[in-house]
Amino acid sequence: MSGALGRGINFGNALDAAAEGEAGFRLTSRYFEMVKAVGFDTVRLPVKWSVHVASEPPYEIDLAFVDRVDWAIGAAAEAGLKTVVNWHHYQELCEAATDHQERFLAVWRCLAERYSSRSEDVYFELLNEPYAMTHESWNDLAARALAVVRESNPTRGVIVGPVDWNSIDALALLELPSDDNLVVTVHYYSPMEFTHQGAHWVADRDLPEGERWNVEDGRAAVAQDLERAATWARQRGLPLFVGEFGAYEKAEMGDRAAWTECVRTEAERRDASWAYWDFGTDFGVYDCRSDRWRLPLRNALLGPDGG
Ligand code: BGC
Repeated sequence: MSGALGRGINFGNALDAAAEGEAGFRLTSRYFEMVKAVGFDTVRLPVKWSVHVASEPPYEIDLAFVDRVDWAIGAAAEAGLKTVVNWHHYQELCEAATDHQERFLAVWRCLAERYSSRSEDVYFELLNEPYAMTHESWNDLAARALAVVRESNPTRGVIVGPVDWNSIDALALLELPSDDNLVVTVHYYSPMEFTHQGAHWVADRDLPEGERWNVEDGRAAVAQDLERAATWARQRGLPLFVGEFGAYEKAEMGDRAAWTECVRTEAERRDASWAYWDFGTDFGVYDCRSDRWRLPLRNALLGPDGG
């Protein structure tokens, strides 16, 4: 299933906000139809399950919320898109791993059962950007979560990435069980000084605005990084999914488009599928306020004809 996810887009800051709409973005079926129409194959749905699940066993999931996720998966299917359902922003699990492991596994058991009859176009991504926990702890937990999913979904595509925020550097620490339907994911935001200039949420860093990027100087580093990831995946027979990449709105638009096109083409050259971060907020390929595509970014992702 190499490259099966194709070209994707993250519907970030919707279901991964504390409440949908709070981060400035709400899903509508029209958005699913629009991304399909311009040539995307996949939507990644970041979901902050942790705020919609009881803190005590049996860890019930808020029904209204899970109905909304059901709707989103259905809207993607109706539009003809594949979906990646992930678990986004689970800080408590990362920062106090053992305290939350039982809850994490119980919720995955429940979600896996709930979605077991969905088509193979629905993929599960166990945990977005594990950080703070050791790689031993994550390797062990990911294997247990995969086993839980496999109880009800023997062949579903399951996506797993390394610690250190899914960084390529941490791939060497990732150990995965043998499984025919795993996909490995990495996130790519290098150089951070460019992609996250002016981003207030980058811990312990103050990345000044005005940082430029150009393809003549920058392509070799991107190619080398993605080659390392692709080699790791190839050696293990796993498809590679660059599940997030993008440059924040404070960077200059021409540079953002050049960087985006460079990462996208270098990923595709290595048969990796990808999902741009994000559709409609501060990295957005789409401007929800004026209801218009940002064409330099859209063209960087899909080519000038869209698709
Ligand atoms: C986070 C977003 C952030 C993006 C880029 C994502 O994983 O969920 O909040 O904007 O990474 O830093």
